[in-house]
Amino acid sequence: MAWRCSAEAAAPPRGAPGFSFSAAAGPLPDEVGAEVAAACRPGRTSILSLPFTSPAFRHLQEETEACLRRLLGIPDRFRVLFLAGGASAQFALLPLNLLGTAGHASYVDSGCWSRRAIAEARRYAEVSIAARAFAAVPDVAEWQVDPRAAYCHITSNETADGLQFRDFPALAVPLVADMTSDLLTRPLDFTRLSLVYAGTQKTIGTPGLTVVIADERLLGRARPETPCVMDYAAQAAADSRLCTPPVFPIFVAHCMLHWIAAQGGVPAMAEAARRRSDAVYAALAEGEGTYAIAVDPAHRSHINPCFRLASEAQTPPFLQAAEAAGLHDLRGHPEVGGVRVSLYNGVADEAVDALLDFLRAFARERSGLCTA
Ligand SMILES: Cc1ncc(COP(=O)(O)O)c(C=O)c1O
Repeated sequence: MAWRCSAEAAAPPRGAPGFSFSAAAGPLPDEVGAEVAAACRPGRTSILSLPFTSPAFRHLQEETEACLRRLLGIPDRFRVLFLAGGASAQFALLPLNLLGTAGHASYVDSGCWSRRAIAEARRYAEVSIAARAFAAVPDVAEWQVDPRAAYCHITSNETADGLQFRDFPALAVPLVADMTSDLLTRPLDFTRLSLVYAGTQKTIGTPGLTVVIADERLLGRARPETPCVMDYAAQAAADSRLCTPPVFPIFVAHCMLHWIAAQGGVPAMAEAARRRSDAVYAALAEGEGTYAIAVDPAHRSHINPCFRLASEAQTPPFLQAAEAAGLHDLRGHPEVGGVRVSLYNGVADEAVDALLDFLRAFARERSGLCTA
């Protein structure tokens, strides 16, 4: 039995045969999973009951931050915060912390997640849309960033729509990026970015931790009503320990970051993401007629390739056949539909190979049915 809970009957136990391509949470590589499982064993030193006040936790947090800084080349003037509340909490905390006396913020509307960030920001700020990026990201020369904006926000990888910003534009106002689905999968340019945030559940570990990497020049502007534990400057001053930090997810992130470093760091993750997504897009192109992709090739996500079947009616049989082949969690986001593949850092190459075989076989079978 994998776990005991009321959902047991409904949920397949982890470790069931096959592979998950879930967009919601990335798998841990086997080595990392084993390390985490060993650290969870009951006893005085179990990670599950490590007090955040202990020297051992402080050491763990320092090492996690140091590894993150090395992997991403984070300059000294940036502060790294380890917060709870999920990436969605940041949708509100960004305006609360960054607006200062400016009432304005600019956002690029690029799909499902940016729209959620925009809706939340509108509760606190006058939001203008700098650009609309659906099938492609317009050239930055066409963006209309409000010069009064305290910041301009992008969602660097639209997890639900399969669109990814290829680079980070140089703007006249601070650039803020939601990187929940592509942090640690690509190099970052901190000469252009002022703040980056990400929930760690997809590319760096397990749910419960949100990393905020912020230029310290942006800190100290929180609106007075901002809860103290949500005030970036207050958390930075307290080394993210103003309240109990998410100890276990920090431990998992620590293991994942060291695993990433051992694989060759961010360049190796970026290379794997490109190679694997290229292979998926090539298999989809071979099955033209069966599969259709809405996003322009130049802005297709290296992390979450999204596609549709020739007709919506073919999606359920596709998903059923995939499940039967051991390929799980391929259903598109409920607001978008279609099919979505998630290629987070922990996805094994053999999972991608199995998916490629399936995509080709399904398209062959469909074209056989059409011509018969
Ligand atoms: C790009 C992006 N931003 C934000 C979120 C929300 O993350 P959370 O569930 O941690 O609030 C997600 C979740 O899938 C996401 O993909």
